[in-house]
Amino acid sequence: MCVSRFIPLSFVIFAVLIFYRMNTGLVSENKASAAIPANIVMSGIRSTGFLHLGNYFGAIRNYVKMQESYECYFMVADLHSLTTHPDTKELRQNVHRVLAENIACGLNPDKAAIFCQSHVFETSELYLYLNMLAYKGELEKTVTFKEKARENPNNVNAGLLTYPVLQAADILLHRAVYVPVGKDQEQHLEMARNFANRFNHRYGEVFPEPVAFNFSEELIKIPSLDGTGKMSKSVNQNATLYLSDDDDTIRKKVMKAKTDGGPTQENSIKPDYIENIFLLLKLVSDEGFVKQQEEAYNNCSIRYGDLKKQLAEDMVNFISPIREKTSEILNDEKYLEQVMKKGAEKARESAGKTMGIVRQAMGLNYF
Ligand code: TYM
Repeated sequence: MCVSRFIPLSFVIFAVLIFYRMNTGLVSENKASAAIPANIVMSGIRSTGFLHLGNYFGAIRNYVKMQESYECYFMVADLHSLTTHPDTKELRQNVHRVLAENIACGLNPDKAAIFCQSHVFETSELYLYLNMLAYKGELEKTVTFKEKARENPNNVNAGLLTYPVLQAADILLHRAVYVPVGKDQEQHLEMARNFANRFNHRYGEVFPEPVAFNFSEELIKIPSLDGTGKMSKSVNQNATLYLSDDDDTIRKKVMKAKTDGGPTQENSIKPDYIENIFLLLKLVSDEGFVKQQEEAYNNCSIRYGDLKKQLAEDMVNFISPIREKTSEILNDEKYLEQVMKKGAEKARESAGKTMGIVRQAMGLNYF
């Protein structure tokens, strides 16, 4: 009896107190917004050259699908470009090209924030804090650092060493969970998770664990046509199909793709370079044709010349509309500037919110 008289009274006092604190701003906004959102997507592409089929199938194809149902942040990683390309003379034109190629592939500035990394100043602040949680030993062991240091021994700068920290800052700044990337970015994503966990452990749960994402089960690596590595913006250019290649160049490159005399035993295992050609075929060619070629391979009647001719035509049909759309977009600099501006505003809004939470978690909010 006594209890039932007290409960409503204490409840009323509690409710009045909460109402008062909310109206006077005393309920911490950061606490309220600190809940980790679950549907945020972030990714980026460096402005170091022309985009290729690897960028499309490893990354952009996923961006285009994800913009339909997630909150997406896609950027041109111009700051990352400076780690290997310190000359900025061509930067503006490269940034414009990456933006135009992304839009030509189907990215929509009304659905996703499409922006430039250097316009989001908050990135540098988070990069600084995360640098204190990254260790020299692990950075030196990163595969991409070792590769880049080997390729360019005269420019092994601190930015190159801390490249994965900057990438983690890009992702964590939006508290993104899904990061659509190709297979080559797996290690960077693992490092981003480590930095997020270290931060959370030291300062409290702020960041989700970001994961590398691809719509099919596995991350993709698009191989180069000569069977020696992957398609790339800067190396292996004759064995890489660019989204800007003209029709004849596409045909020539495909016809030169590495093959051999064909299998001599039924149902034999395909060598890597033949597997690569079948992978490309599956991406752009008709299902019936792929099936027919698989059968021809298995019964040793395959004719690589015919296969490559068809693959070349299918590549031309795939790439040429993107190339044409890109040049249209590139002619409209005003439009590209508007896209970047709108994207930067959205990205900075999200970044600002995260940095409020970060500073509070770290105890840097002195007033
Ligand atoms: P970058 O510019 O090298 O490549 C951009 C995207 O394309 C993918 N990719 C490939 N996928 C399959 N096969 C290939 N041959 C191939 N080549 C490239 C890459 O995996 C990537 O998804 N560090 C990043 C840029 C970056 C970033 C980020 C990515 C900066 N900040 C934050 C994600 C989130 C890079 O160098 O990508």
